[in-house]
Amino acid sequence: MRLTLGDFARSAEARLDPAIWDFFEGGAGEERTLAANAQAFDRWWLRPSVLRGADRPETAVKILGRAWDLPVGIAPVAFHTLAHPLGEIATARGTAALGSVPLVVSTFAGRRIEEVAAQRGDVPLWLQVYCLRDRSITRSLIERAENAGFEALVLTVDAPHLGRRLRDLRNDFRLPADVGPANLAGDGFRVPAAHARAEFDPGLDWSVVDWLRSVSALPVLVKGILTGADAALAIGAGVDGIVVSNHGGRQLDGVPGTLDVLPEIADAVAGRVPLLLDGGVRRGRDVLAALALGADAVLVGRPVLHGLAVGGAEGVTDLLTILLDELTDAMSLCGLRTLADITPDLVRPVTSWP
Ligand code: FNR
Repeated sequence: MRLTLGDFARSAEARLDPAIWDFFEGGAGEERTLAANAQAFDRWWLRPSVLRGADRPETAVKILGRAWDLPVGIAPVAFHTLAHPLGEIATARGTAALGSVPLVVSTFAGRRIEEVAAQRGDVPLWLQVYCLRDRSITRSLIERAENAGFEALVLTVDAPHLGRRLRDLRNDFRLPADVGPANLAGDGFRVPAAHARAEFDPGLDWSVVDWLRSVSALPVLVKGILTGADAALAIGAGVDGIVVSNHGGRQLDGVPGTLDVLPEIADAVAGRVPLLLDGGVRRGRDVLAALALGADAVLVGRPVLHGLAVGGAEGVTDLLTILLDELTDAMSLCGLRTLADITPDLVRPVTSWP
């Protein structure tokens, strides 16, 4: 019986080729940052308030003017087709079954963005952008996304190249013949790290936000901010939103868990733009901790691959339903009727009690 996201992970591991599992689960270097993401959530206790009449909590939130049914979206993850042949098509179907649960589609999606858009229902679709050396390729992908009804761009800023992922190096990981980036032409992508070295523009600076504005009218979020200083620069550059992320521990090993840096960034942002967080969110109560510490919503990455591997679109729906059930359970038990009831007082560090 699968009752938690951890149960889905174990079922997925049993079904997947070990090298693909390592590609999904691995982080960079010694994976200290990967572990830190999950550990950070266990350093906070919740502080419930009782007798608040919170038996049916309302989980809706509004981000960039769009209603989300729960404060959880799907992080951009390359090649959903490694987990299920329908890939992002199944993910879009699985999320649409729940309602308005945003899906950030990776530049390295395994399915064409137009096919994904056809399944979207009420799902807000966002395009994750890796800025390539050949800007005409990036530009044409953005134009296609805009034409297909995508609603925002998420520029990943923590990846001038891919981090040193030792599991992939030890496995000499290559994409299987039937998997590739469906929205990019060309070859040479079988070894993702080598492909990124060749194709990503490693010399980006903040002027890239102006470039995105010059090619698209869509809101621009930046993903991969880990300090208050960079959050301030991002807002100065005119971004419409910030995603606190260390790329699921896959880029620079040795940075803190995202929840650890969230308060500093929330202070710097001071509510001026939507603030999202990803990394290690695995339980409904993790969502509450992130919101109490200043996030407006969170994104989940690997769990969605687990849902896909276990049961395609239905697996994604089941997995998100568990997260939603856990969230409403925790909200109700904390005395929270709506997400607006969440204050910093909802959490306290474990260390402040003996
Ligand atoms: C990612 N991530 C990622 N990020 C991005 O901006 N573009 C991408 O193409 C990918 N691809 C990708 C592939 C795989 C297999 C994983 C696991 C992750 C990072 C992702 O968006 C997100 O930051 C993390 O996955 C969040 O952490 P959790 O939820 O996986 O712990």
